[in-house]
Amino acid sequence: MNKIYNLTLTSIIIVYLVILAGGIVRMTGSGMGCPDWPKCFGYLIPPIERSQLDWKANHQYNKDEIIILGESLFYAIDNFNSEKEINLSNWNKYTKHDYSKFNVYHTWIEYINRLIGAVAGLSVLVLFIYSLKFFRSKKSITLLSILSLVAILFQAWLGKTVVDSNLTASTITIHMLMAVVLLFILFSILALSKPIKPSVLPKNVSILIIISIVLLVIQILTGTEVRKFIDIQMELFNYTERNKWIENITNTFSFHRSFTWAIVLINSLIFLKLKNLDIQSKLIYTIITLIFLQILTGVIMYYFHFPFSSQPIHLLISTLIIGLQFYFLSLYNLKKNATKI
Ligand code: HEM
Repeated sequence: MNKIYNLTLTSIIIVYLVILAGGIVRMTGSGMGCPDWPKCFGYLIPPIERSQLDWKANHQYNKDEIIILGESLFYAIDNFNSEKEINLSNWNKYTKHDYSKFNVYHTWIEYINRLIGAVAGLSVLVLFIYSLKFFRSKKSITLLSILSLVAILFQAWLGKTVVDSNLTASTITIHMLMAVVLLFILFSILALSKPIKPSVLPKNVSILIIISIVLLVIQILTGTEVRKFIDIQMELFNYTERNKWIENITNTFSFHRSFTWAIVLINSLIFLKLKNLDIQSKLIYTIITLIFLQILTGVIMYYFHFPFSSQPIHLLISTLIIGLQFYFLSLYNLKKNATKI
């Protein structure tokens, strides 16, 4: 195992942790736990009590620190010391959205999610710096590492857009798709830097895998549509009465559920073809097992009313399936011209 392979694998694992943390943020309704970005209520370490967000007399306020006044958020225009009475000329109303509640759990869940995101950014930065070493010997690794850095920065910016837009559905979908793109880039680097070359894969199997990836993208997009509907229900029922979330579900859900058959079918075909070709790969067994688990979590959500953790797990497994499938494809197809690094 070489260093670039280990660094890429580390980044991939951290990106999956970010996806899981994002799912937990959503399951607990913590998305607006930090109203601003990148700081949280204007602090590097967010408050632990609601009283910390009350206006205080004779207090040193730093630029961008937030207070809650009535039903609104206000942020400090500059650094200043407050006097006996509040002087509103020191404060601007926070207008990016009108969400002004404080819940310590939501704030800290969102904050930890952001910290894991920052660690992911750092690990991709380290990967990029290390990849510069291969600029002459294996340019594709350096170029893909630059791309992964751009993708994760764009993803961070999108994260800010998600918060600024008070979690509008379309930004969440783009955020999800970008996570998949980032995984594709990282898995390409992983395949290129894998020390042991696998055997050759026939073209028709590669085509089947590409079709499966396209089907998975469609499935992820329809899943995100189902999620948008569930999001509205979760809000409507204030995160309780889970049995009602799936009531009156749209046709998109029926499509999402039935479309699973297409994924099962094509992956069974890939599995059988590989078996006939006597290509031994733990990856394909892992992918099949994950598809099975994905169906199981889907069924559990539907019939057992979204038990705790089922939503983030369903989200995580979908990105694992598509990521590993892309890796499988890259492993056989990107290695052809690979040189030892
Ligand atoms: C390979 C098959 C499947 C894939 C790749 C897949 C993928 C996804 C994705 C990506 C989401 C959006 C998650 C999010 O944004 O948080 C989703 C949502 C959902 N899926 Fe699936 N899904 C599959 C199969 C199924 C099946 C078989 C069912 C039910 C029988 C199901 C039920 C649901 C439900 C209820 C949601 C909404 C979840 C939520 O609100 O968090 N899925 N799916």
